[in-house]
Amino acid sequence: MKIAILNGSPRNMNTTAMVKAFVEGATKAGHEVEVLHVGKMKIAGCLACEYCHNKGNGQCIQKDDMTKVMPAYLTADMIVYASPIYYFNLSAQLTAVMQRIYAIGKPTKATKAALLLSSASRGVYTGAISIYRDIMSYMGLEDKGVITAAGRENGSEAKLNEIREFAQNL
Ligand SMILES: Cc1cc2nc3c(=O)[nH]c(=O)nc-3n(C[C@H](O)[C@H](O)[C@H](O)COP(=O)(O)O)c2cc1C
Repeated sequence: MKIAILNGSPRNMNTTAMVKAFVEGATKAGHEVEVLHVGKMKIAGCLACEYCHNKGNGQCIQKDDMTKVMPAYLTADMIVYASPIYYFNLSAQLTAVMQRIYAIGKPTKATKAALLLSSASRGVYTGAISIYRDIMSYMGLEDKGVITAAGRENGSEAKLNEIREFAQNL
């Protein structure tokens, strides 16, 4: 299947290591994988102007990097969200991407989703996982799983192997 991974970290560190491991596993299993490093893109928050639901006919009035992400929402079979934990939540960069889908309502093809989270501490995931699960349920996507990496788990072979195996056995 076609998998789009949205990496919501603004840098190439812990979340990116999780994303790379996922790509390795998914590619090994024969999936077509596209990584969109949305944390490094310029994507503003939704303006609630409703242009998309009126004159825009599904197009956002803001012509920023979201135009690079929208095709994935239209063509992928699975969406993988990846984010560092920022103050017990998903990054603002990933949150903006998740909210800008307002223009089309929900992914038109995807039926599955997963979430990768990186943090410094343990026990900081309740908010991020809850938001993710609520949005997936609202959009009708099946949650295939959530993998977290706290502190020293980040970049550890054990964690990266867990992710590779997860991605290989979707
Ligand atoms: C603005 C900011 C807020 C953060 N908030 C939390 C937090 O609430 N809990 C936590 O455990 N780590 C927090 N962290 C640490 C990051 O989640 C952690 O370093 C993560 O591995 C970073 O991922 P990255 O290397 O992909 O950027 C925060 C980091 C930043 C920059």
